Amino acid sequence: AANTEPSETLDALTGTGTVLVEGVSELWTLDAERRVLRDAAVLIEGDVIAWAGPRSEAPAADRRVDLEGRAVLPGWVDSHSHMVFDGDRSAEFQARMAGESYSAGGIGVTTGATREASDERLAALLASRVEEARRGGTTCMETKTGYGLNVEDEARSARIAAEHMDEVTFLGAHLVPAEYKNRADEYVDLVTGEMLQAVLASGGERLRWADVFCEEGAFTPEQSRRVLEACRAAGLTPRLHGNQLGETGGVALALELGAASVDHINYLSSEDIEGLGASGRAFRANGGVDGAPPAADPAGIDWPTVATILPACDLSTRAPLAPARELADAGATLAIASNCNPGTSYTSSMNFCVGTAVLQMRLTLEEALEAATLGGATALRRTDVGRIVPGARADLHVLNAPAAIHLAYRPGMPMTAATIRKGVRVA
Ligand code: NIG
Repeated sequence: AANTEPSETLDALTGTGTVLVEGVSELWTLDAERRVLRDAAVLIEGDVIAWAGPRSEAPAADRRVDLEGRAVLPGWVDSHSHMVFDGDRSAEFQARMAGESYSAGGIGVTTGATREASDERLAALLASRVEEARRGGTTCMETKTGYGLNVEDEARSARIAAEHMDEVTFLGAHLVPAEYKNRADEYVDLVTGEMLQAVLASGGERLRWADVFCEEGAFTPEQSRRVLEACRAAGLTPRLHGNQLGETGGVALALELGAASVDHINYLSSEDIEGLGASGRAFRANGGVDGAPPAADPAGIDWPTVATILPACDLSTRAPLAPARELADAGATLAIASNCNPGTSYTSSMNFCVGTAVLQMRLTLEEALEAATLGGATALRRTDVGRIVPGARADLHVLNAPAAIHLAYRPGMPMTAATIRKGVRVA
């Protein structure tokens, strides 16, 4: 059918009626065949994708928007961040650039400032960070508690996070706070008892995850197991910060517990790489997300433990880069996330993370784009985001470029032309 209505601007995307987005030079569908369509179009109906295909076959729509040769990707799915915080740690960063190494202790500095902040201030800071992320093409984002570290402040972090984020993770076991110095096991009792109950009561249905910083200077594998098993018994699915500062057993624990993801993964043994590879291979052999239409019940899918790399964090801590190439070659399901936080990665720019993964970590463009969209969705066990297929949430990232390779080819340039979330232009 002909679409003869005059073309409007992207502001026509208000989440109502049908809008045909055409003039797409490259459409990265992330569908089952991973098709990249040239001269393509997408039909949005309300807040979902109704159709995607060649422009010449586009169905009629109430309105149309001509992108005049821009590339379109699914909105980024950022599966790891810590955005509920107050305080500044730029001096710590500066000292690191002068040769200091990163240690978990800085978390305590942010905890002090976060406890001091009013609810209104914390919520406003979080909202402005979410807006920044949207300006960079992110449409689905997880964040963690973990700078409260007492019952009251963890519960309020979960509540504020649930008001602004798609997904919320309980990270009471981020660091043993100063008042529990040398009493880590008692702190774990608090996390798995009163704190967990308070966070469950305040986090609502977006609180679906529990995380632990399993690392020297934070929590041992045994303590991490206790936390994650208690949280799982309470209905939260485990994920882990693992193998960031050394080979500290986080990956093995994540695989044993069937965690949704293990994140950082800078120091991996060959067994760790093979274990994550086997998990990804089994997921694909069982059909992966491609075996399920977007509306399928995610609980029916045999999800993998996703290997989540955090390129901006690796640069900001001057850590050895996570072995992304080796993980991809082993068959692991990869996610790329920003890890936006004040200590190790104060950026929510997924454009930067994807560019870095290609430039420095030797992922192909296809691998990096998949990891930052579908991979993030898989880490969050969602089938409704990360793809441009009928029935998926209408989350699009319009690039200021004719081809997605510009994300790596023009690093640091403003590559996001527009962000559409649930059928509405949000940036
Ligand atoms: O993911 N590694 C632990 N947590 C954060 C850092 C938190 C901080 O230093 O404030 C991370 O890198």
